[in-house]
Amino acid sequence: EKEKGLIRDSWESLGKNKVPHGIVMFTRLFELDPALLTLFSYSTNCGVAHECLSSPEFLDHVTKVMLVIDAAVSHLDDLHTLEDFLLNLGRKHQAVGVKPQSFAVVGESLLYMLQSSLGPAYTTPLRQAWLNMYSIVVSAMTRGWAK
Ligand code: HEM
Repeated sequence: EKEKGLIRDSWESLGKNKVPHGIVMFTRLFELDPALLTLFSYSTNCGVAHECLSSPEFLDHVTKVMLVIDAAVSHLDDLHTLEDFLLNLGRKHQAVGVKPQSFAVVGESLLYMLQSSLGPAYTTPLRQAWLNMYSIVVSAMTRGWAK
């Protein structure tokens, strides 16, 4: 359908290397909620957010996040196949002290990145398409908090 095309085309248009876009996203995230920085045990190795985001451990996490988004985009037709993976991923985030509410700020940061990377191609239907996919990913991850 149309939504999937919007997501696939826009994701592809960001180019092969998604890490710089992930850095934009996480720079925004730590701007909106600096406390999230402290959930990374290795944040003690850096001072301010932009410094952290150039450290290898943070770049690793940014890369992992981009890979998960990439997997979701590739599986738009069968997102349910990622459910177990995402539930476990949620569990791991519970273990490091992330609260499910923080995924709202993550979503905002994702949209911020898309808007700044896509420019005029960032339209209301595109935004809605991404929000829909993101909310499926987040609800799957959030199941990791249940007992
Ligand atoms: C692992 C924090 C959001 C994907 C981790 C770890 C921390 C962390 C502390 C363990 C250390 C590490 O692997 O670097 C956070 C925080 C987030 C966030 C504070 C924002 C609230 C996300 C999102 C995704 C994601 C949105 C993907 C959709 C991953 C992956 C791992 C990971 C794939 C590795 C899990 C494994 O070891 O199997 N995260 N994360 N994270 N995170 Fe996040």
